[in-house]
Amino acid sequence: MTGLRVFSGRSNRPLAERVAQYLGCPLGGLAIDDFPDGETSVKISDDVRGCDAFLVQSTCPPANSHWMELLITVDAMRRASAKRITAVIPYFGYARQDRKDEGRVPITAKLVANLLTTAGANRVLTLDLHAHQIQGFFDIPVDNLSAEPVLSAHIQGLNLHPLTLVSPDVGNVKRARIYANHLGGDLAIIDKRRTSGSDVQSYNIIGDVSGKNVLMVDDIIATGGTIAKACELVHKHGARRIMVMATHGVLCGPAVERLAAAPIDHIAVTDTIPISDEVRRRLPKLAVLSVNELMGEAIRRIHRNESVSSLFMNW
Ligand code: R5P
Repeated sequence: MTGLRVFSGRSNRPLAERVAQYLGCPLGGLAIDDFPDGETSVKISDDVRGCDAFLVQSTCPPANSHWMELLITVDAMRRASAKRITAVIPYFGYARQDRKDEGRVPITAKLVANLLTTAGANRVLTLDLHAHQIQGFFDIPVDNLSAEPVLSAHIQGLNLHPLTLVSPDVGNVKRARIYANHLGGDLAIIDKRRTSGSDVQSYNIIGDVSGKNVLMVDDIIATGGTIAKACELVHKHGARRIMVMATHGVLCGPAVERLAAAPIDHIAVTDTIPISDEVRRRLPKLAVLSVNELMGEAIRRIHRNESVSSLFMNW
């Protein structure tokens, strides 16, 4: 494809390579390093003048370094006269800081949106933003893809009917309802309260899970508190098989221990964030599904000025 160049930051090179493979073009030359004082050094080794450049960088932990790396590389591309720069952010870190829900707190999702535009990004391509309204923090086009086709194809392959879709908190009800409509199944909702950044309490279930196969859906598994507590609750209420699906496996802090100990039969996440061999070894019930074709196809369509939303016609 003439003029198309795909580059990768350091946060998720394996996914960037799979995306490039789907597109049939090699990753562009980009050397990113750390100066001895911790500052980031970036050098683009390919000519990008007049190119349609796509830079793949998940802003997963360590989020601050990955955000800075993304901003600095976008700046380098703008100064090297790329015609259009699309920040491809499979996992958009800081998305959970999207509102001022108490006094004297920042709206960091808006701050990083401002920074990205100031650095020179012309478009954003992302996946399952924690909140759709974050698109409105940008005055440039944002394509927010959904991993639902990838995750649900995996679940359909497991033949679990009849299913009850469970939302582990009120924030995920819409997502669970979409899956329930697509996969067929009832809906149940858990009443969750967050008590700290890493701890939650799950109190009640609205709906019936007794004797049912349960599929719990979330956008992010971070410390695993939400999912572990919710699975314990549905288990206590007599659920049969308990499956979990989430787009972004951040899996930080006590997540692996919590998920390993929780009454979960199977967990599926995508590769928006790299999952180490060590985590896969400690969590054999975890499946990691690639979103490379989804992201690659979206890049292809953006480059050719074709519809991206028609990728989700059946959803
Ligand atoms: C919350 O609104 C999100 O959808 C996730 O449920 C939450 O971010 C997961 O965090 P943790 O795994 O730390 O409970």
